[in-house]
Amino acid sequence: MRVYLSEDYKSMSRRAANIISAQVITKPDCVLGLATGGTPVGTYQQLVEWYKKGDLSFAETKSVNLDEYLGLSPRHEQSYRYFMQSNLFDHIDIKPENTHVLNGLAKSPVAECAAYNQLIRDLGGIDLQLLGMGHNGHIAFNEPGDNFGLETHVVNLTESTIEANKRFFERREDVPRQALSMGIKNIMNARRILIVVSGEEKADIVYRAFRGPVTPDVPASVLQLHPDVTLVGDRAALSKLVEAGEPVCG
Ligand code: F6R
Repeated sequence: MRVYLSEDYKSMSRRAANIISAQVITKPDCVLGLATGGTPVGTYQQLVEWYKKGDLSFAETKSVNLDEYLGLSPRHEQSYRYFMQSNLFDHIDIKPENTHVLNGLAKSPVAECAAYNQLIRDLGGIDLQLLGMGHNGHIAFNEPGDNFGLETHVVNLTESTIEANKRFFERREDVPRQALSMGIKNIMNARRILIVVSGEEKADIVYRAFRGPVTPDVPASVLQLHPDVTLVGDRAALSKLVEAGEPVCG
């Protein structure tokens, strides 16, 4: 694993965007695995800025997103499809038909998950998977205790995830209780993984994920077994790793 420490959120976002743009420049028709949540917003802003300057094109790039709330329409402002359109897709030249987000309104969620696994295979797998990490160590919506062998599946969200995500909704009761999510197996099959973390409230879980034992209790800990992981974080999120002597690049 390579660890890049940035002083603050802005430089962390720039570093993460650098890694994604290098992927897109060296393989324009690559498959990007994308994430939502608060952490990658700055990364997407940076990519949009470079696209607008003419430094980057996504014309041949394909994307698959990690997850989507079950029961939310793509037009719902808190759906992950809406997030991706407003934070990235609407501002760059990626072709709409090349962007893939699970359908939260699928009549058969199980069939939707199976079709998504097939789609990822048909695309030839994911070249670079961008991840954030939840406070309980979840990656995508793979919650503590979930089986590492799962592909895309229907997930019951934990109370801690509902609590963390209620900030995006008017009321806590509005947060969906279920989601569709890529499984750990899909993520581990990605050729490269880029994980972004920010803020001191992530410091403990980052330490447990990368210095603790590999265990389904901390889903992100499975990344220790992946051969090509880059962790990009700000000083606050990486503080415990650094204290423990983890070698970092500046
Ligand atoms: C989002 C996702 C989630 C988030 C995680 C961290 O697609 O899969 O696992 O990455 O909840 O969210 P933030 O970045 O808001 O702390």
